[in-house]
Amino acid sequence: MEFKTDFLIIGSGIAGLSLAIKVSTLGSVAIVTKKEKSESNTNYAQGGIAAVTDQDDSFGEHIHDTLICGGGLCKKDVVEFIVKEAPARIQELIEWGVNFTKSAEDPGIYDLGREGGHSRRRVLHAKDLTGYEIERALNEKVSHLKNVQIFENHIGIDLIVKKEGAAQVKRCLGAYVLDIEKNDVHTYRAKYTILCTGGAGKVYLITTNPDIATGDGLAMAYRAGAQIANMEFIQFHPTCLYHPDAKSFLISEAVRGEGGILRLKNGTTFMEKYHTMKSLAPRDVVAKAIDTEIKQSGDEYVLLDITHRERDFIINRFPNIYNKCLELGIDITCDLIPVVPAAHYICGGIAVDHYGRTSIPHLFACGEVSCTGLHGANRLASNSLLEAVVYSHRIYTDISRDYLNTTQSDTFIAPWDPSGATESDDSVVVTHNWDEIRRCMWNYVGIVRSNKRLERAQRRIDLIQKEIDEYYWNFKVTKDLIELRNITTVAGLIVKSAFLRKESRGLHYNIDFPETREEFKTNTIITKE
Ligand code: SIN
Repeated sequence: MEFKTDFLIIGSGIAGLSLAIKVSTLGSVAIVTKKEKSESNTNYAQGGIAAVTDQDDSFGEHIHDTLICGGGLCKKDVVEFIVKEAPARIQELIEWGVNFTKSAEDPGIYDLGREGGHSRRRVLHAKDLTGYEIERALNEKVSHLKNVQIFENHIGIDLIVKKEGAAQVKRCLGAYVLDIEKNDVHTYRAKYTILCTGGAGKVYLITTNPDIATGDGLAMAYRAGAQIANMEFIQFHPTCLYHPDAKSFLISEAVRGEGGILRLKNGTTFMEKYHTMKSLAPRDVVAKAIDTEIKQSGDEYVLLDITHRERDFIINRFPNIYNKCLELGIDITCDLIPVVPAAHYICGGIAVDHYGRTSIPHLFACGEVSCTGLHGANRLASNSLLEAVVYSHRIYTDISRDYLNTTQSDTFIAPWDPSGATESDDSVVVTHNWDEIRRCMWNYVGIVRSNKRLERAQRRIDLIQKEIDEYYWNFKVTKDLIELRNITTVAGLIVKSAFLRKESRGLHYNIDFPETREEFKTNTIITKE
């Protein structure tokens, strides 16, 4: 079946939903989302959204903190316009119904949290459930829009890119999409396709990300020939809960922002050895410090201590973390929290310009899947939700300019061809390879890398890639197979980019090239040959 829409948005986090609200004023919108519409990385964001809203704060300071964190690779003009456009976008979220937490002392102003690398309090939050609150409000708003259709349990397989006209100019015409429940593949034809698929934390064994974070948009864009940038910069969050029954549960950096102190299992502090900001140093420093201490001591985790703050304050400020930990037998008002670093955010992604345009006409990318130049070699905490709303507005602005002159392409699109493919009788291949990639990436392409480890990872991933390519065309596509193919592609891109960067900078640390080198003060760009 071929389905026609003006805008095909793949992904339903803050980027996809905020964009849908805007472009639905121009034309029809189809949102494709692989689980329920609220299941996204955004939904799990605890910390908040950074913006200058306090009289004592300044754009200059937010810009400065972002640039320092980014290790020399941020695009200064991008940082400047994102920081300056932030207050208007925050106001818009508030008008759309997002309830940010107000100050306990003065309910006329918002309570501002502090996180690593920020020189002052500037993070708007909804207690410790900011992403959940944003998703709630945006989904509520979208549900009233007649022009927007949401396709839950649908996953993009591949983008459709054709050369058109006498000049044979490439254009993205939409995507092939699998209806997961019915097991049917449909063609979605669109004037504009916008990838808002979030990150790829599932490439790693230990991650703060939910199961959906399999880098689908990134892998699709790469296969379609789009430019991919800076994939070596994977941000590891220092504090993921360490507990056998807790899967991917984040302990927000805001806990350290409110005075949480990192300790070894024997109770001693260690962050003073690594940075003057101690437990509130930028994330890359803290994650690397914990990794070093864990390797030296042989302990499985370190501890986060917030017990010196008042019980009522902790429960009111961090109700989600408090309740989750309590369920697991940890009362954070009097017990220390066992934590380990975990893959959290991918700073690289599909290279986009100031208006979210990729290198393929009519294909845009927004949010974590994109690489705008804001984060450089290391993202400043709580800058990502901000990047998503600023860019969704910019994409809308750009498309509005020539929307009325843009027609739907009538180029023939062949329907998805499943002929020859049979039902797989060997799903162990998928689970085995899934597990192997994630372990390989964790062990060889983690916080501390070396040339030898990268070589090992590349050999393993190349082999798995070949096996999947064979398997992929012989059997009918399933969600599991699509996701496996995508995490393998993304893992390959991370390893390749890590190889290309023969220095250490920001989140990329290679013991064979421990210095930062001026000649590498540039982006790593990969395009499919
Ligand atoms: C956190 O709450 O620690 C995560 C915030 C972020 O990743 O920006």
